[in-house]
Amino acid sequence: MLTDPIDSQLLDAAPNLRVVSTLAAGFDNIDLAACESRGIAVGNTPGVLTDATADLTMALLLALARRVPEAITAVRDGEWLTWEPEFLLGMELRGRTLGIVGSGRIGSAVADRARAFGMNVVASGRPDGNNPGLPLDDLLATSDIVSLHCPLTDATRGLANAEFLSKMQPHALLINTARGQVLDQVALAAALRSGEIAGAALDVTDPEPLPPSDPLLSAPNLIVIPHLGSATVRTREAMAEIAVDNLLAGLAGTPLPYPVGRIN
Ligand code: GLV
Ligand code: GLV
Repeated sequence: MLTDPIDSQLLDAAPNLRVVSTLAAGFDNIDLAACESRGIAVGNTPGVLTDATADLTMALLLALARRVPEAITAVRDGEWLTWEPEFLLGMELRGRTLGIVGSGRIGSAVADRARAFGMNVVASGRPDGNNPGLPLDDLLATSDIVSLHCPLTDATRGLANAEFLSKMQPHALLINTARGQVLDQVALAAALRSGEIAGAALDVTDPEPLPPSDPLLSAPNLIVIPHLGSATVRTREAMAEIAVDNLLAGLAGTPLPYPVGRIN
């Protein structure tokens, strides 16, 4: 599982291991170099979770922009006294700019959905210079909503730090359905408390699970849900099929259908 660190220590304890098959697209929990040096094949489940994760990103975006969690709480708390012109006003999406950080498969699928809502979409370039997009500073300065879709790598760890947040607009919202470690949660809590940004919605945190006592959870205008990006019946079945096919291929010594890294 994506919560299991597959590192040298684990590999040393499993001398007969031949294949690692993760039930995830992301593989930042796996030390690929350590697997490679031992001749262990690694497989993941890309592609099949693109739509599910993009859908969940839109769910978070809409929930945050239209204050759905606050609205649910207001009804339960008896705060719905009458229809009021200025009760729980939020942000409308048409004409707003969505900044996609990491325009791989999931980022592109979110862009398609956002365009259907009438949003302007801008995307940042890749750190490797491929697929040049908007410079990150320009994206942060112009986006009304910023959504993180990059993998967790040495280049993206802590990417959304205090400086990143300070470059966002004060009315802007931040969505993270990528990996918790891409975002500095201490900096995020401070930015939400000071009003440097207007809200955030996270499907991923650091650590996972996030303890209910974590100070982040008391920050205002924050939605946190428990890593559900790929959590649809159809997608989890498709991921399970691929994960099993990767395992069977690895045990049979044949090429993995969805390999990661160089051993296959
Ligand atoms: C989920 O986070 C995945 O990487 O599949
Ligand atoms: C809202 O319900 C309206 O009718 O404008």
